[in-house]
Amino acid sequence: MIPKLYFSFTINDFVGEFKSHPRDFNSAHGEIENFFNGSQPLFVRKARIGIRMVLHAMGLKAGAAVGVQPFTCSSVLSAIKRAGFRIVFIDMDRNLRMSHEDLKNKSNAIDALIVTHIFGFPDDVETIRSIFGNKPIIEDCAQAFLSAYQSKPLGLSADAGIFSTGFGKLFGIGYGGFVVTGNDTISANLLKQAEQLQFPSKAAILWQSVKNFGLGMLYRPLIYSLLTFPVKKRFGRSNASIQEYPFRETKMPLAGISRIARNFTKNQQRLQRQRANGKLLIKLVDQRFHPIEPLNGSEPNYFVFPLQSENRDNIVSFLASKGIEAGNFFSNSILWVHAFGYQPGDCPGFEHIASTLFTLPCHDYLSENQMNYIAETLNKYHVA
Ligand SMILES: Cc1ncc(COP(=O)(O)O)c(C=O)c1O
Repeated sequence: MIPKLYFSFTINDFVGEFKSHPRDFNSAHGEIENFFNGSQPLFVRKARIGIRMVLHAMGLKAGAAVGVQPFTCSSVLSAIKRAGFRIVFIDMDRNLRMSHEDLKNKSNAIDALIVTHIFGFPDDVETIRSIFGNKPIIEDCAQAFLSAYQSKPLGLSADAGIFSTGFGKLFGIGYGGFVVTGNDTISANLLKQAEQLQFPSKAAILWQSVKNFGLGMLYRPLIYSLLTFPVKKRFGRSNASIQEYPFRETKMPLAGISRIARNFTKNQQRLQRQRANGKLLIKLVDQRFHPIEPLNGSEPNYFVFPLQSENRDNIVSFLASKGIEAGNFFSNSILWVHAFGYQPGDCPGFEHIASTLFTLPCHDYLSENQMNYIAETLNKYHVA
């Protein structure tokens, strides 16, 4: 079985956790700061905490309206609510980017905007800025670490960028997320808020390492095929429930930060292989599945490879029967958003995406032969 994502966590990683040292923190800071052209990262236990903190740091008035696409993780919506703001949903186009038309219509009613680089595919923040004006914009780069647009890493074009580095995100490095900002006022306010954040307890950190080690075992190819996938299929949660905002806001543990630092160079190399896989799939997949058209000048990280089809559920089952695990990320977003004030018909593009989108694996552990197998198998799918 080819897993939809790959998660590697070896015994060396496990041992490395207990050796992490404050100097790793400085080294991770340095690596990330260089990568983001001098912007200092603020590490948090989850990206959603970063969203709440940035929203507060932007000095919005009480009850302000925050625009966001509905096809996103429910934790983003929970974070906006926790910050005490209203949500206005903005529609998306078929390339999974923010609809300029819908933004033009709703722009006056919105005080701040979250632009989501979904599945690591860059959206065009400059054009969005030209429509939205001088109001604050956050880039949600939770899935877009190491993606770039016009040779600039994502996260630097708006007022702040938030990243998630936990399990289920690019390479699953680190335990949590971070915020980058080039805006001095936001930065000063974030640092002030960060003074209140504690590190997670030692027990929570140990439990996280043990869990990661267990997951690393479960993602070994043979174990995944014989045990993990069948068990997930039989007993897996439907992920219909909303991801809540954490009870306690904490920092990213040192072990997570040091893992980012240790793997930074290796991850750049992994990224090149993953990009090659993604570009190959664009060429190989039949046009009837509508591969996304990345913006000219963009370099997605190809975290996963999204496609759309009216027969999504049948295709996902068909691929599983051929040993390929396709993903249906955020297919439940259509249910979640109702809890946040969404009315049917608010965003027709989103509703279509949520009911048709599936993803192919394209992680760096897959060989060219496996990529060919994935594309050939999909292209053979015919509606019965
Ligand atoms: C697009 C997007 N934004 C934000 C988040 C929140 O990330 P975290 O789980 O680190 O809070 C997620 C998590 O899945 C996500 O997919």
